Amino acid sequence: MGRFTNPRDLYFGEGARHEVKNLKGEKAVIVSGGHSMRRGGFLQDVQKDLEDAGFEVKLFEGVESDPSIETVMKGAKFMQDFGPDWIVAIGGGSPIDAAKAMWVFYEYPDEKFDNIIQPFSFPELRHKAHFCAISSTSGTATEVTAFSVITDYEHGIKYPLADFNITPDVAIVDPELTYSMPQKLCAHTGMDALTHCLEAYVSTAASMFTDADALHGIREITQWLPVSYTGDHEGRKHMHEAQCLAGLAFSSGLLGIVHSMAHKTGAAFENGHIIHGAANAMYLGKAIQWNSKDPRAHERYAYVAKEILHLPGTTDDQLIDSLVEKIRSMNDELHILRRSSSRSSRPSLPTLFRMPARPRTRARPRPRTSRRSSSAATTTSRSTSSFRPSSTSVAVRGGRSLWLRPPFCILDMPTLPPRKPHT
Ligand SMILES: NC(=O)c1ccc[n+]([C@@H]2O[C@H](COP(=O)([O-])OP(=O)(O)OC[C@H]3O[C@@H](n4cnc5c(N)ncnc54)[C@H](O)[C@@H]3O)[C@@H](O)[C@H]2O)c1
Ligand SMILES: [Fe+2]
Repeated sequence: MGRFTNPRDLYFGEGARHEVKNLKGEKAVIVSGGHSMRRGGFLQDVQKDLEDAGFEVKLFEGVESDPSIETVMKGAKFMQDFGPDWIVAIGGGSPIDAAKAMWVFYEYPDEKFDNIIQPFSFPELRHKAHFCAISSTSGTATEVTAFSVITDYEHGIKYPLADFNITPDVAIVDPELTYSMPQKLCAHTGMDALTHCLEAYVSTAASMFTDADALHGIREITQWLPVSYTGDHEGRKHMHEAQCLAGLAFSSGLLGIVHSMAHKTGAAFENGHIIHGAANAMYLGKAIQWNSKDPRAHERYAYVAKEILHLPGTTDDQLIDSLVEKIRSMNDELHILRRSSSRSSRPSLPTLFRMPARPRTRARPRPRTSRRSSSAATTTSRSTSSFRPSSTSVAVRGGRSLWLRPPFCILDMPTLPPRKPHT
């Protein structure tokens, strides 16, 4: 059985953020990141609309990029003290992801972070609050996904938490929020979105529903990302919707080795922290070459090159080469480095690609019964869905990232020095 899960409502277009005035409830907490949303007046807009709708509103601001477990726990405590029935997260992937994880610990104060790192094993949410996400970057699509990326800085591990319970109830895709994105952020988040499409399309969990989103997303992103990069509003609008399509694709179709590596290296380099989208952009071409060893992935990449992007080539191999070259030329056009320039970082990026020719081991999910001990778990229902994706990336303690199921190989890297949280 397959599963395709999205937010119940998705509002898009300029001014869509004002839709929050139609939410129903008594108390709302707004979670946001740095200053960009306040500077643009968007935070104030959302606060006012909620207050006009009769909500008592409190703000939790200042979520850092690549949010830490500590920030999540602080936000959850804030919510426990206030008792909101709506959580409204506004900003880039970082504050929205942090708010999703806060939601879990708000509803289950006795829950432990270690208990939710196993993909698709969250407790049932929505006993206390519903969730609305308003994205301000055009890349992560966290406003529609079942993912939340939280960093354990103590151990240097970025955890891609995954469960359909944290798919937002309401997603707002308002391009006006993205007009202030600096070029670099536009480039990095845009290449993140392209990676989402390509990884979801070759994923072993792909379906007709995710393919449709992934393929149209690839077409839109390759056409409009360079336009969006110039600051053009039409380009930004296309990109904001295209990255959301990418999210619909990968939230149910899942991701691949590029993200597995990006999550690992994103948390690992103390002095040369690699921004998520930039890491993806750098690894994508190599991963396509690697994944192409699998016949199905080979065929799918060639289809993208020929039928979606109309790239040159008469054989599948030539088409795949053209696809890799297309990604490299986009990186050049967007001024994204092909590899890390940080000489102080260890290990160097090229070592990440010295992977075994075949998967060396296969990760086995722990039995669900052995990992639950919180008192909340004994008194409340758990996620009862029998859906278990056939492939997903998993970061596990001990500094290893594992990727399950071919065509994706398992990446097995040494523990790297942790990076300090920048709170
Ligand atoms: N949940 C998911 O499905 C998913 C998918 C991919 C990546 N991620 C995670 O999301 C995080 C990255 O998120 P991101 O790339 O959106 O960046 P971000 O949220 O970390 O923001 C980066 C910076 O851009 C600023 N910013 C945000 N929007 C802006 C705007 N419109 N104008 C000007 N400045 C703005 C922020 O204040 C911050 O300083 C990473 O931790 C990544 O691992 C999550
Ligand atoms: Fe991503």
